[in-house]
Amino acid sequence: MSDEKRITPRYIGPDTSARTEKMSRAEIQGRFDKEVAALYSQRDPIWLPEFRQMFALVPELLKPHVKPGSVILDVGAGTGNLSRSVLEAIPDVRCVLMDFSANMLSAVPLVLAPFAGRFETLVADFIDADYGVAQYEAIISSFAIHHCRGRAEYGGLYQKFEQALKAGGIFVCCDVVAGADESLSQLNENGWRAFLKEQGLVDAEVDRILSNYHVEDSPIDCPLHLELLKEAGFSIVDVVWKRSNFAIYVGIK
Ligand SMILES: C[S@@+](CC[C@H](N)C(=O)[O-])C[C@H]1O[C@@H](n2cnc3c(N)ncnc32)[C@H](O)[C@@H]1O
Repeated sequence: MSDEKRITPRYIGPDTSARTEKMSRAEIQGRFDKEVAALYSQRDPIWLPEFRQMFALVPELLKPHVKPGSVILDVGAGTGNLSRSVLEAIPDVRCVLMDFSANMLSAVPLVLAPFAGRFETLVADFIDADYGVAQYEAIISSFAIHHCRGRAEYGGLYQKFEQALKAGGIFVCCDVVAGADESLSQLNENGWRAFLKEQGLVDAEVDRILSNYHVEDSPIDCPLHLELLKEAGFSIVDVVWKRSNFAIYVGIK
């Protein structure tokens, strides 16, 4: 086990086991504004399977679409984990990190300290934000877009992304996804449960992670992501990696 892993505090997210109704967008923002932001900059979060492998794929997907000076937008960037993977792997690009939680973004200068001058932060709600036209060579996101609710919010966001990308640009998303029906969602979640138990978490901790997932997150299935990306105008769409309820999907303009 690496030194970094040994000193990482074990954090499994908030306890929302007492509630059944979905959290509102304002409640989600309030929850991230109260988080200890530094806990989100872990390289080995205990609750995410194959986290490093997932994040290592993102720069590989970006490389054919960026060049020196390219600007990459990180949507729901939090403390800057995904931008860190990109800035480490691709030397001459810059990242704009967008998040509605100034608290989460406050950890970015520390997480991205080795990359001073190559990033900026932007406090904005990614659902309501104006992204402009042909602004970015790439848009990336990790574990944030699942906060959209329903077809209209996801589809509206993908239309804004398509417009904001330059010709030949790419959108890459690492996120939780639903199964294509209830039984496949259940199968996926069973896979996640098994992973969490392999990590040494006890049943109560696993239940707490899953119950928070159910009240806070609103993932949709991969076929619907691809359909909405196509509807938004992306010419190439694909799921490039998947394990249980975790996936990386892409849209190329
Ligand atoms: C689970 S964290 C992931 C952060 C980071 N991308 C990572 O992988 O470590 C989700 C982030 O999405 C942000 N977020 C959720 N909904 C948002 C919205 N509507 N607009 C902007 N940021 C949002 C939260 O504030 C939080 O920082």
